[in-house]
Amino acid sequence: MDDKIKILKDKIAEAHLGGGKKRIEKQHAKKKLTARERINYLLDEGSFEEMGILVTHRTTDFGMEDQKFYGDGVVTGYGTVDGRLVYVYAQDFTVFGGALSETHAEKICKVMDLAVKVGAPIIGLNDSGGARIQEGVRSLGGYADIFFRNVQASGVVPQISAIMGPCAGGAVYSPAMTDFIMMVEQTSYMFVTGPNVVKTVTNENVTSEELGGASTHASKSGVAHKTSINDAACLEDIKQLLTYLPQNNTEKTKKLPFELGEELRPELKQIVPDNANKPYDMHAVINGIIDEQSFYEIHKDYAENIITGFARLGGRSIGIVANQPMVLAGVLDVDSSIKSARFVRFCDAFNIPLLVLVDVPGFLPGTDQEWNAIITNGAKLLYALSEATVPRVTLITRKAYGGAYDVMNSKHIGADFNYAWPSAEIAVMGAKGASEIIFRKEIADAADSEAKLLEKEKEYADKFANPYRAANRGFIDEVILPENSRRKLLKAFAMLENKQVDAPKRKHGNIPL
Ligand code: COA
Repeated sequence: MDDKIKILKDKIAEAHLGGGKKRIEKQHAKKKLTARERINYLLDEGSFEEMGILVTHRTTDFGMEDQKFYGDGVVTGYGTVDGRLVYVYAQDFTVFGGALSETHAEKICKVMDLAVKVGAPIIGLNDSGGARIQEGVRSLGGYADIFFRNVQASGVVPQISAIMGPCAGGAVYSPAMTDFIMMVEQTSYMFVTGPNVVKTVTNENVTSEELGGASTHASKSGVAHKTSINDAACLEDIKQLLTYLPQNNTEKTKKLPFELGEELRPELKQIVPDNANKPYDMHAVINGIIDEQSFYEIHKDYAENIITGFARLGGRSIGIVANQPMVLAGVLDVDSSIKSARFVRFCDAFNIPLLVLVDVPGFLPGTDQEWNAIITNGAKLLYALSEATVPRVTLITRKAYGGAYDVMNSKHIGADFNYAWPSAEIAVMGAKGASEIIFRKEIADAADSEAKLLEKEKEYADKFANPYRAANRGFIDEVILPENSRRKLLKAFAMLENKQVDAPKRKHGNIPL
């Protein structure tokens, strides 16, 4: 028996060495952790249970039968994060550059299937040279098996991808179909075709980092939801993200203990400037409302004219969508609509209530926007909010103009409780623009057109640049003092706790894509 135990122990020790000491050193020299180090960092100490540690590939071409490594380039299994069950896979770059073989894919599929059957998040740590070139189509089939499962798991269990090294070609489409993509700065990149192919086809000179590095995807393409300075920070970010999410779509995120006090926030009185054209930072409003230090921003550097992120309100996890007057005056455009629509749909799929903070002058005009389909893309946010059945509360801090008023979680599209501050202006457009149109003749005929315009502007503003017309119609449920906002919202979300909506039976809607 001792001999047999030794054989097992030797095999496990060999598996733990992955592609060998030299390749591990190379990995460390690139400031990257190994697959096992990453898993150990992510999971609660001692909680990891590995599956398929002795799996090897079945390829015999190109002398591959003599090159076998236990685990075949991916470490898979389950464990806990803060005591909660998660499934995890980590590609091992020290084995064939983490390239995906048929068996490598089978291992990933196994944990994905378990995650869906049991109902727990799946976390993929990507670090791979792509399809295992020696395996040809079997490797491509393996990718498709994973893609298919990503889609089946979508909206059932949270799926989080971390890109911690290369992720190129077909490999990008699994992360792309997960809920969140985290990227490590400088050591990770994602692209469909690399710089060499780009040079050949489009004659552009671009580095891997420029083409698909973390900052590119966080700011230019919006592919990455969050970036981190190194592997450890990225894994910490994943742990924190999990605290806002439930285990699956049938559960709610666990509420932290909370007792309602006075909850006055006087600092909220000072935020909106008297001049309606002056910007202010909507983050200050968010931080004035939520539990201290609880904001976890998603897509921080992308489409900054809208803010999306998770927070806690009275210990409850909520999703926040907020116009940002500091950037492009907070207009809705193609990118911000896409960004916020996807966030809303995630929250709705996973029972996370939504708070929408509104200060929006409308949609961004221009050929760029029209030709990039602001009609279709703007409709995404409208559609996503209209179909969301989670508790939905709105607070209008200042402007809610035109169609954007409707889109930003208005009462008409199913919001449950709509508040406005006294500084709210709910109108078809700003007073100046409106007066120029409806009093055009009167202004033109006046002896002093400038003075007439100012007079008419004031008349229009007095009538409409306030929340009271909307409140008269019941489109606003209550006009509240800014300092009371936290208390009001705490009570509204508590009241909505057991909201239930039975949607009509259909296969699925047809969101404008
Ligand atoms: N299939 C099989 N083996 C692969 C591989 C792949 N797709 N990608 C990398 N490897 C192997 C390398 O042969 C090397 O093996 P070795 O340790 O035995 O020498 C090891 O992984 C590390 O690769 P290396 O090229 O030395 O690492 P690097 O950090 O310099 O470069 C890449 C990383 C990903 C840029 C580079 O390996 C690459 O271009 N790979 C091919 C990408 C590709 O075209 N994939 C297929 C299409 S999806």
